[in-house]
Amino acid sequence: MPPQHFLDLSEFEGATLRNILNSAKAMKGARAGQSRGARELHAPLNGKIVALIFQRPSTRTRVSFEVGIRQLGGETLLVSASDMQIGRGETIADTARVLSRFVDAIMIRAQHHDDLLELAQHATVPVINGLTDKSHPCQIMADILTLEEHVGPLAEQTIAWVGDGNNVATSFVHAVTRMGGKLRLACPQSLGVSPSVLQWARVNGADITVTSSAEVAVNGASCVVTDAWVSMHDRDAANRHNLLKPFQVNAALMKRAARDAIFMHCLPAHRGEEVTAEVMDGPQSVVFDEAENRLHAQKAILLHCFGLK
Ligand code: CP
Ligand code: NVA
Repeated sequence: MPPQHFLDLSEFEGATLRNILNSAKAMKGARAGQSRGARELHAPLNGKIVALIFQRPSTRTRVSFEVGIRQLGGETLLVSASDMQIGRGETIADTARVLSRFVDAIMIRAQHHDDLLELAQHATVPVINGLTDKSHPCQIMADILTLEEHVGPLAEQTIAWVGDGNNVATSFVHAVTRMGGKLRLACPQSLGVSPSVLQWARVNGADITVTSSAEVAVNGASCVVTDAWVSMHDRDAANRHNLLKPFQVNAALMKRAARDAIFMHCLPAHRGEEVTAEVMDGPQSVVFDEAENRLHAQKAILLHCFGLK
């Protein structure tokens, strides 16, 4: 049997993603009041080692995977990409074959999405996407968990994505296509979600509106989401700042959303750029619940990849 990778939400049936979310909710609920280091009772990853590879910096992804794997009874091996032979020309394919002889799964934050795909193609153990230039599926599983905790079932929500149509936005498109809900994307014309991703979503019946007006997107929405204007793989910072200025999430914009709407951001955030401090630190912001939910969502993703419950 080929390994069960977790590469993109587009590759899964909605029901499978829903099962993963249910498992995340159950594990989160069962941990209430326990210390962060307490192991899950049945320690399902006992005897398993997961390699964590980072070709880009990370705070949340690294710590949440390290902690989640330990809570599940497994062990982690942090592999810094700059110390690996990949940096001296060893192929990703050979790296995948070698790592598969040592570890039980690989989580990678890859510089290029194609590297993730090549790793997955040649690994004989599960590979998990911990962000690429094209997508961030673990983040969006945590986001949906957060959204449903605060405002209710995804299928009943209108989510406004405001800003850069980047890797995180792409995973949102994948998620609503597979699991329902309305998504409104407000991006500058030249920084929209890739047309091929939008085409795929439309063919698969997604309810997605594309606009260049943040106000139109946010009007009556139950959730407003944004992300950094300059992602880790972007080089044209000045141009992006100019284009994205009209897409700042501020109090005036939030007023257009539903009265009890939430604000989400995958973090790290840049106060005064994509979001004002007033919104980021205000009562509608659920960004730290969102960060915590990376832990719960990823534990469920790991169990899914290992075929465990
Ligand atoms: N949101 C997120 O993936 O954060 P890190 O870059 O800190 O991992
Ligand atoms: N879009 C951002 C997300 C960071 C978690 C980036 O790729 O840098």
